[in-house]
Amino acid sequence: MKHTDIKNLLGTKAENQEVTVCGWVRTSRNSKSVAFIEVNDGTSLKNIQVVVDKSADTDYKVARVGTSVKVTGVLVEGRNNTVEINALPSGVEILGTCPEDYPLQKKGCTMEYLRTMPHLRGRTNTFNAVWRVRSVLASAIHKYFQQNNYVYVNTPLITGSDCEGAGEMFNVTTIGYSAEYKSEEEYYANDFFGRRAGLSVSGQLEGEMAAMAMGKIYTFGPSFRAENSNTPKHLAEFWHIEPEVAFAELDDVIEIAEDMLKFVIRELLDTCPDDMKFFDAHFEKGLVARLEELISNDFGRVTYTEAIRLLQESGENFVYPVEWGCDLQTEHERYISEKVFKKAVFVTDYPKEIKSFYMKQNPDGKTVSAVDLLVPGVGEIIGGSEREADYDKLVTAMKERNMNLDLYSDYLDLRKFGSVPHGGFGLGFERLIMYTTGMSNIRDVILYPRTVGSIR
Ligand code: 4AD
Repeated sequence: MKHTDIKNLLGTKAENQEVTVCGWVRTSRNSKSVAFIEVNDGTSLKNIQVVVDKSADTDYKVARVGTSVKVTGVLVEGRNNTVEINALPSGVEILGTCPEDYPLQKKGCTMEYLRTMPHLRGRTNTFNAVWRVRSVLASAIHKYFQQNNYVYVNTPLITGSDCEGAGEMFNVTTIGYSAEYKSEEEYYANDFFGRRAGLSVSGQLEGEMAAMAMGKIYTFGPSFRAENSNTPKHLAEFWHIEPEVAFAELDDVIEIAEDMLKFVIRELLDTCPDDMKFFDAHFEKGLVARLEELISNDFGRVTYTEAIRLLQESGENFVYPVEWGCDLQTEHERYISEKVFKKAVFVTDYPKEIKSFYMKQNPDGKTVSAVDLLVPGVGEIIGGSEREADYDKLVTAMKERNMNLDLYSDYLDLRKFGSVPHGGFGLGFERLIMYTTGMSNIRDVILYPRTVGSIR
């Protein structure tokens, strides 16, 4: 179907040229002699207005809200410096009618209500803007890494090893468990892969293998977590960006994370000014100014030990008690970033007991070279570390966790054959979108959210 993107028309000068657009009717006003229809095709937050002269177009059938149309007409100057289309006689072709029970008839539907119709909610201004921002952020992330000589790798989604060791892997199986099998081993031996397999919680371990050949790599794909966390920031399937860098220590990892975030947010502000203004007006007052401030200042930095002290001395009544060794909960993370630093802050050097086996052990014997980035409103959006590059130390940490070393022989080999200091981080893509749009529920920044107890 030959037609022009509405976005491209909105940016041009109207010189009475004939144009054709396709889209869905957002609003429709009808009087005796003239009809006004606002059409949106998803290329821009803004609709284009189509004016139908009903005296010239006696066949015109009212295009109801939700109807899909192909419009041919003349592009003219409209009010408020906009362009609009004067439809030619019979210029409004109805491609798909839309009956009265179209659920997006009325304005002001709640987010909860819209979540019940993931197949239609993209036709609202809000979700139209979210999907566009998501796309622009993804492109900016690739641009950042490509410009900086990182190699994009695709790590496997089906895996035999649990990277984070938190027991949150979904099983991948083609047979149901049955009492026929005498043991778990026998059951898995009969399964598709001949051993236990699951959906990857992180591409890091394979990413490390690629980085040990290519120097700098990144992944951008889905990760899966069977976390029983019914919260506004947890998904069972989320998109994960994981750079991994050879010849890098924790400070380098932190520098890359800050530089990358500033780059992608700058790109977003420059590429999507209308969408960002929309989020600022409807979801978080001052959003654009907050992001501008974020990218023009250094992020904060604090050790875990110091963060615990700040929390203990805060006088706040936290639901979860704070003591050295505890995992930071969202309420703690938000206090540190929102109340203490009032900006994005890196927390480093966590107790080894609450972090993963692969993190570099610090000389104090108690902490590891880990880093989380906490941001106001969301909490943690990045988790990373320098990796343990020493074979013996890594093996000891794995044994302490009762891990089956045979499953990680490739990973251990990397410490045998030309091991180097290296590190990386994981950025939760949906959490980045929440942070940059002011959307407060992760279910509203992904097309089809998968959460505990809910799949569609
Ligand atoms: O902190 P996490 O668990 O770190 C890792 O997976 C490391 N292997 C990353 C690495 O070093 N390469 O997860 C990283 C980020 C979190 O900071 C969060 O933004 C996101 O992934 N994330 C989730 N996002 C949505 N839903 C969930 N259930 C998430 N779990 C983690």
